Amino acid sequence: MSDKYRVVLSKEDFSPDECELIKKLAGYDPYCGDPKTELNRCLEEYLTFQGVYVCACKKLRTNLENLELDYRIQHDHRVLRSIDSRIKSVKSICAKLTRKHLSLTLNNVKNKLTDIAGIRVICPYIRDIYEIRDRLLAQGNIELLRCSDYIKKPKQSGYRSLHLIVSVSLHLPGETVSVPVEIQLRTVAMDSWAGLEHKLKYKNPRGVSNEIAEQLRNCADVIAQTDEQMQRIYESLFIEGQ
Ligand code: GTP
Ligand code: MG
Repeated sequence: MSDKYRVVLSKEDFSPDECELIKKLAGYDPYCGDPKTELNRCLEEYLTFQGVYVCACKKLRTNLENLELDYRIQHDHRVLRSIDSRIKSVKSICAKLTRKHLSLTLNNVKNKLTDIAGIRVICPYIRDIYEIRDRLLAQGNIELLRCSDYIKKPKQSGYRSLHLIVSVSLHLPGETVSVPVEIQLRTVAMDSWAGLEHKLKYKNPRGVSNEIAEQLRNCADVIAQTDEQMQRIYESLFIEGQ
């Protein structure tokens, strides 16, 4: 797991750089009496904030795993190939706030960023993606906040996935909170393209020429055609013949 998604669960494990960022986010008061106590307050506030996202991620993962099991028992088909989840590190959170020209405060993180907790779901076929979406949203405790269907409307880059921002309600001691989680659903084929393109272009600080961008888009289109063809074969063998 890269540094970007390193989840720290204990105050002692934050690096000096991370402590400095957390001090900014939690509004460290340099004029308070005891700097050590004030630093502890900031770290604890950050860990509590982060813990809510860790819990929301776990809850959603369990929901997805149960949904998969239920579907497998009913239809003898695995709609879900794998699930991966991550929590954004404090460094990534601050980098994103800065990119969005937002000041570094925990309130801004809570109110403006919806991808602190992220889950990636990989499915065999395109139809499985929508099956999972429908079944997940039919569960009472999850509310859809935003849906970006980059399968029906691929990004300019050629990127395809279904992105859902959902709100998960968590019952914590004394309160119920709603936590946003970003879910990316893709086929195995879409995931292989996104994984390669991510390093080649999406997160490449040097950028790429128009020609390379065009080639990457073409690869995505070929992969999409293959996904559709594989789905047609699957449907002809296992759905239509039933
Ligand atoms: P980030 O700051 O990168 O998280 O983007 P965003 O949160 O402003 O929103 P967006 O919905 O565009 O992207 C969310 C995530 O989708 C990204 O973090 C990537 O994982 C993925 N993504 C979006 N566009 C592309 C793309 O063109 N190529 C690849 N490989 N991944 C993409
Ligand atoms: Mg993101």
